[in-house]
Amino acid sequence: GKGKWTEFDQRDLLLTYNALKVLEARYLLKDPDTLRYVETPQMLFRRVARFLARGERKDVEEKFYELMSSLKFVPNTPALMNADTRLGILSACFVIPVRDSMVTPQGDGIFDSLRAMAVIHQQGGGTGFDFSELRPKGDVVASTAGVASGPVSFMRIFDVSTDVVKQGGKRRGANMGILHVWHPDVEDFIRAKTGELKDAQLQNFNISVAVYDEFMRKVDSGEPFPLVNPRKTRIKDWDYYVVRARNYMWEEWVQEEILRELEEREAVPLDESRIVTVDEALAIAETEGAVTGYVNARELMTKIVKSAWDSGDPGLIFVDEVNRRHPVWYLGKIQATNPCAEEPLLPWESCNLGSINLEKFVVDGKIDWDGIAEAVKYAVRFLDNVVDANRYPLKQIEEATKRTRKVGLGVMGLARALVRLGVQYDSIDGLYISYQLAKFIYYNAMLASIELAKEKGSFPAYDPTLYKDVWENARDFQEILKVAGLGGQPSEQVRKMAAKAESLDFSVLKELRLKYGLRNATVVSVAPTGTISIIAGTSSAIEPLFALAFVRNVAVGKFIEIDPLFLEYLKKYEMDDPEVIKKIAESGTVSDQPFVPKTIRRLFRTAHEVDPIYHLLHQACWQQWNDSGVSKTINLRSDEPEDVVWNVYVTAWRLGIKGITVYRDRSKSKQVIYFGIKE
Ligand code: CDP
Repeated sequence: GKGKWTEFDQRDLLLTYNALKVLEARYLLKDPDTLRYVETPQMLFRRVARFLARGERKDVEEKFYELMSSLKFVPNTPALMNADTRLGILSACFVIPVRDSMVTPQGDGIFDSLRAMAVIHQQGGGTGFDFSELRPKGDVVASTAGVASGPVSFMRIFDVSTDVVKQGGKRRGANMGILHVWHPDVEDFIRAKTGELKDAQLQNFNISVAVYDEFMRKVDSGEPFPLVNPRKTRIKDWDYYVVRARNYMWEEWVQEEILRELEEREAVPLDESRIVTVDEALAIAETEGAVTGYVNARELMTKIVKSAWDSGDPGLIFVDEVNRRHPVWYLGKIQATNPCAEEPLLPWESCNLGSINLEKFVVDGKIDWDGIAEAVKYAVRFLDNVVDANRYPLKQIEEATKRTRKVGLGVMGLARALVRLGVQYDSIDGLYISYQLAKFIYYNAMLASIELAKEKGSFPAYDPTLYKDVWENARDFQEILKVAGLGGQPSEQVRKMAAKAESLDFSVLKELRLKYGLRNATVVSVAPTGTISIIAGTSSAIEPLFALAFVRNVAVGKFIEIDPLFLEYLKKYEMDDPEVIKKIAESGTVSDQPFVPKTIRRLFRTAHEVDPIYHLLHQACWQQWNDSGVSKTINLRSDEPEDVVWNVYVTAWRLGIKGITVYRDRSKSKQVIYFGIKE
């Protein structure tokens, strides 16, 4: 017989050396007294599967275990670390409101938020904040007759606190700090991580400026844009019937939707004077004395771009696009995202993530669509169970999260899947595969959530008529190419490969949703998969290969990596000679190695060889079929000029991307989440 050689052991053999190192350093449980390991990787997957399948049929636990141990699906880090342990947070993403007060009875003052952050970081979660409600630097403080220090100063407290908590040595806390572009301190904010400050200040923050369509139009025209002191305007507190506005900048489409909704419901006598256009809002802010000055939109954008070119910060959040495509827009306006921006969330909401490993679904050079559909179905079930299994650190978080039950199923291993399909990442074919995979996964995730609703009920805030099907305004593939000034058709071969996704009929989905409801307000989200892609032994998220040989820095040390898939190809071409490998490792790429066969050079294009526009277009493809966001770093070569960043930022807005970040090679000595450098 098979003796002791069980499937159990074989599954461990799927793990790469780096995966084992990471699991050992951070994930496998230890006895708190002896510090001896009390579990193996398979025991970890079993622990997680069992915990998330409580109350389900036995075969569900087996499915969960099967998906994780085969590395086809891996949930976000907190779920792996904390399932069935004393720490109870299983989600990676949180958004915490920050009101303009030290503490408030509702628990959302500055130091209330700080406390919430500390508790979340301690357990491995990441936090996002919109600091725009804080009064600007130099403004009056009535209670002490003093002057306010402004959002950037307060952010520094959050930063130091993050440093100190360090998440029990396992995972350093990550933050997103957002400031809306109308805030009088916006220039301080833009400079907060640049120049001399770039390796010194706010090291635990990614920062982003939240911009509006109106602002982007004024960037084009070079018109002035107002700065508003949030303390002085009452517009942000106006209470609408379905939407509580916390901000004066409502795009007209929201106002129209509100009007239509009010009319249809005839529920509340409509006072139209309370719904104002952007221009009217500004006029009111002027009469209130809330407008502190004007900036030239184009000049401000130039400063943002300069800063981002210099240090990677700030990124941009396109708030109108975020809200236009927020399925439960009727619950309020989204002002912030989690640290890597894949999750735009309402105040106090949290979201748990998990990712499908696309590389595992390439079988004999073809995409295993049925396999993906099956994995998606159980992955959504898994993530939905996380919402209930979570032990929430605060009541507000529990309430906000359970009201919408947002989950974010994403992907990893795209780049390696493309290699295995023989498709170049930076090609029309590569983009086409991204587009169809995104569509297929979104479709099946929605289907799974509808089936769950049928079985377990819809999310409490589900309103069948108000809920917005974001696929209805997904851009067409050719349209996306056109915005970027690219033409061309995918090849016949690739279209055949993707036929299964091409033919999906989303109207069926809507019928089913209206009939059975929906379990989760959002279902997909593309997370960076910084650590779980190491565990799964694949490329991260939708990023191109970073380097064929490189050093990866993680909290527990440095790992030298030679891409095993690349090695496989070298072997295929009988080029796995130590001298050749050494030569390649020195530069990290093969594009400048004339002795390497063309096929290898075409398939193994690394992040810095891929033109920024292709980075951007992959992000755009995944954003179309997505009810949350996409985390993507537009990696630039160190010699790229500022113009390129300008282009990336403006084109991102035109492409309907929700949030954008660039990172120019070697522009910083360290980075918040993770990074690889060529050595
Ligand atoms: O791969 P893993 O599940 O560890 O995380 P990721 O996909 O790289 O990041 C997902 C989210 O986890 C981020 O957007 C953050 O919200 C959070 N995160 C964090 O809090 N601290 C980190 N050091 C890394 C990620």
